[in-house]
Amino acid sequence: MSIAKPIPQHVAIIMDGNGRWAKQRGKERTEGHIAGVETIRQTLRAAVKHGVRYLTFYAFSTENWGRPEAEVNALMELLCKSVVSEAPELKKQGVRVRTIGERSRFSERVQYYLNQIEEQTAEGDRLVVALALNYSSRDELRRTMQCLARKVQQGELAPEAIDEQLISSHLDTGFMPDPDLVIRTSGEQRLSNFLLWQSSYAELYFPEVLWPDFTEEEFARALEVYASRDRRYGLVK
Ligand code: IPE
Ligand code: IPE
Ligand code: MG
Repeated sequence: MSIAKPIPQHVAIIMDGNGRWAKQRGKERTEGHIAGVETIRQTLRAAVKHGVRYLTFYAFSTENWGRPEAEVNALMELLCKSVVSEAPELKKQGVRVRTIGERSRFSERVQYYLNQIEEQTAEGDRLVVALALNYSSRDELRRTMQCLARKVQQGELAPEAIDEQLISSHLDTGFMPDPDLVIRTSGEQRLSNFLLWQSSYAELYFPEVLWPDFTEEEFARALEVYASRDRRYGLVK
């Protein structure tokens, strides 16, 4: 009798290597980001096919504001353009788009398109795609702590009532389970301020491939690697 291989319920991806991909081809970094959008499209389709329920993409970190202005602007334009052009396909695939991160720092225009895509895909029930935008884990924890402190101050919350579950539910990711698998492409082996609380027991996978070259087969390989891992959670088998 064959035992079904475990599929991660939530896969979180640090899409890295767009700039290097472009440089290798003598192109502008922005060309790498454009190519990376196609990879998102393919990964999304693969996730639906394999029955993954939550897919988080680290798309723009709080630290990424420090990049050259032209690159930041190009990323914002690409974001707006992509949510418009991808909307029909996302709806067709049953994808619900949400975001994590502090949205108020984006321009009105970017916020408008983000609201649009969330509304348009609100019925999606096959896959939740969370875009991490102006996101970093420490910033998320800072905002969450401020929120909880305010509740305590207003007498709505007893300090003793703050347990792990309450903290988790107040994070930006409160609508999702913790990631089972975190993938970072491009061979870098660090989390760069991504889902630090949520990844406590996630399996980590660092393929060498640059994000624009991360194919459906690469995604399937990541799932194979995940299935081969032994998750012990500090226990003895
Ligand atoms: C990841 O690719 C995309 C974003 C951070 C927006 P990079 O732009 O970091 O690519 P590299 O790391 O410079 O190759
Ligand atoms: C992490 O990649 C952020 C995103 C993928 C959005 P970076 O390329 O910004 O991270 P570092 O600078 O290599 O740590
Ligand atoms: Mg990078």
